[in-house]
Amino acid sequence: MNQHPTADSASETDGVPREVWGSRLGFLLAAVGSAVGLGNMWRFSYATAEHGGAAFVLFYIFLTFLVGVPVMIAEFGLGRSTRLSPIGALRRAGGSAWVPLGYLFVAAGFLILSYYAVIAGWVTRYAFDAVMSPFPSDAGAYFGEVTTGWSPILYHLLFMTLTILIVAGGVKKGIERVSTVMMPVLALILIGLAVWATTLTGAGEGYSFYLTPSFEELFSLETVAAATSQAFFSLSLGMGAMLTFASYLKRDTDLPKESTIVALSDFGVAFIAGMVVFPVVFALGLQDAVGESTVGALFISLPGAFQAMGPTGRAVGLLFFGALFIGAITSGIALLEVVVSSVIDEWKIDRRKASIAMGIVIALLGILPASDLNILSAMDAVASEIFLPLGGLFLALLVGWGPPSKRLEIFIEGASPAIRPLMSGWLWTLRIAVPPLLVIVLTQTVPAGLASIRAIGG
Ligand code: PFF
Repeated sequence: MNQHPTADSASETDGVPREVWGSRLGFLLAAVGSAVGLGNMWRFSYATAEHGGAAFVLFYIFLTFLVGVPVMIAEFGLGRSTRLSPIGALRRAGGSAWVPLGYLFVAAGFLILSYYAVIAGWVTRYAFDAVMSPFPSDAGAYFGEVTTGWSPILYHLLFMTLTILIVAGGVKKGIERVSTVMMPVLALILIGLAVWATTLTGAGEGYSFYLTPSFEELFSLETVAAATSQAFFSLSLGMGAMLTFASYLKRDTDLPKESTIVALSDFGVAFIAGMVVFPVVFALGLQDAVGESTVGALFISLPGAFQAMGPTGRAVGLLFFGALFIGAITSGIALLEVVVSSVIDEWKIDRRKASIAMGIVIALLGILPASDLNILSAMDAVASEIFLPLGGLFLALLVGWGPPSKRLEIFIEGASPAIRPLMSGWLWTLRIAVPPLLVIVLTQTVPAGLASIRAIGG
């Protein structure tokens, strides 16, 4: 931590200067940057394909606003009211019994970033390759080449190096600056691609799969669990990322408004990405590969489709994977920031040293998922489908059922009067609906996570 207060460290926690965002928009774009990422394009498209298309999308919207927004307000509120990173924030809000939850958050940051950076590495290679040469005609073999041997390790290390450099640059000069420049570019690219996709012959079938609901699949617990964990992953909830970002806020922020904007933007990007992925894949008759595996939609079907489109496909491929890269890097920095901010606060280590040291440990851990796709899937199943809902459950209990005075401070302070009635609605969902829902989700995801660990060997 910078020991000399500067423009970047204008406020204090326990006498130690704390960094702050340069502007409200900067905070918002960083939070949107954290939310929008591989989850919106990679995870969202296969989860949608696997769980019946449009009905899943509708259910997902419902969960985003009913469950995601109140948990996000709770995280934002905890961060803003304590001005501490996750471990310290939980200690301050709940006492020392809550410290292990802070460590769970940090562990989630380690695990998720280690495999997230591997997938981001593949994305980086696809974007590079689109510039250098046409996509190879055998998309399956090409995917094999991108994901085996040295290539995934090298691109993963490249991605981690960039992530470390940005986080080491600081909250305002690193994270905020990169998000402010990159997020508008991502939005423009995706909107442009979605407009282009309307011109494809045969796109209609893709739209109808994506936009016409069939409700049979919805009423299974598995779908409920998939949609809930997707919402948590996509909104970066349940591991203190939003908490950490809000800890660099000044007090006078309207958190419900910011949470709603983040949720809307996150859903908007996922939805528009679907308006690109499904028409492209259906227009080229590649729909079977989409739901086949967690990587099928994006990394096999799409390059296959881009290859079949010739030079246009190369340009579109570059834009698509470029947008995906932007999403990935602005999420990668949020994941690393959870770990780094905790190290800075708990052990009073300088930001640069903390970023480099923690980044290196995560990069090394990432060599495992970079070398074995089963390990990658198991890490995703455990971290995003068990750790995040578990984190969300405890957050809902702490903020929803903690002392009323604190609840008011954490949850309601700063909310504009117009939004207060909505706030009490959200508070009640946080207390009554979120905990049982997350317990149900965990009954589904814990056995699935354990099975995916057992699958590593075979
Ligand atoms: N929300 C990111 C995505 O959808 O790709 C992933 C993520 C980022 C999860 C940051 C958790 C987090 F703290």
